[in-house]
Amino acid sequence: MDELMIINEINRLKIEKRALILAHNYQIPEIQDIADYVGDSLGLSRKASETDANIIVFCGVHFMAESAKILSPNKKVILPVADAGCPMADMIDAEQLRSFKEEHNYASVVCYVNSSAEVKAESDVCVTSSNALKIIKSLESKKILFVPDQNLGNYVSKRIPEKEIIPWDGFCITHHRVRHNEIDMVRKHRGETKILVHPECNPSVVDKADFVGSTSEIIGYVKKSNDKEFIIGTEMGILHTLRKQNPHKKFYLLSPSLVCYNMKKTSLEDVYRALRDEEKEINVNKEVMVKAHRALKRMLDLS
Ligand code: 13P
Ligand code: SF4
Repeated sequence: MDELMIINEINRLKIEKRALILAHNYQIPEIQDIADYVGDSLGLSRKASETDANIIVFCGVHFMAESAKILSPNKKVILPVADAGCPMADMIDAEQLRSFKEEHNYASVVCYVNSSAEVKAESDVCVTSSNALKIIKSLESKKILFVPDQNLGNYVSKRIPEKEIIPWDGFCITHHRVRHNEIDMVRKHRGETKILVHPECNPSVVDKADFVGSTSEIIGYVKKSNDKEFIIGTEMGILHTLRKQNPHKKFYLLSPSLVCYNMKKTSLEDVYRALRDEEKEINVNKEVMVKAHRALKRMLDLS
């Protein structure tokens, strides 16, 4: 089948099976273009919790589809490529989190959504990069264990000095490898052009940026700005939406290392097969599901 036939089949099956296609901002352009909704982790979680579709085809990575299943337990949630994972989410498991809590006298646990259902189940509340500041500010506890991203943890800690935030030492292998001298180089050559980065970048990069935000916050910043050029410090998939929404603005990637290979695994054929065969369904253990739901639901209520 050629690309057009695949797209037609996806659209036909989507209506026939009352399916919803969700795609993260880092997906390849062809996937973003056939999705019913493209967004950041928070937006996608919201859509998953609100939909009345029978099937959710989640074009992203495993933890996102798992969160969709937890928020929509009666729906069939399919991840088109079973091994599209997030290396950061694998940097802590439930056992390690239990020891971390014990070591710190059972302080409150805030968990970045880039984590497994089992880790969410051991946490008090989840956050995404767009609501972490707001949610952590609103918590009563003064001492907080933040898992798994050390960079988002450090970012929040600097902005909320009244809290003692103890981050786990996980990181995003894509954002963490951007070097601060790449910012220096870009500043030298592009002068005043604004540099917008994701808080998953390491502190030496975040500290030198003009704006720090989640993927949707970066998209929102560009939309409002009168500038004509921007340097983008997050995964390259976001360039598609930015260029589509702002045809008269120019975008440059801060670093060639900003590619998440897991986010690039899903193709149109995979989405077609997912809708046709309804395989690769996401399932979560019932007990884990109940506890993880509490942490995710609390996030949605607080954001
Ligand atoms: P957001 O889209 O929430 O900014 O998350 C980025 C990310 O790394 C998702 O894996
Ligand atoms: Fe995980 Fe980083 Fe890829 Fe996001 S960009 S899915 S945090 S590895």
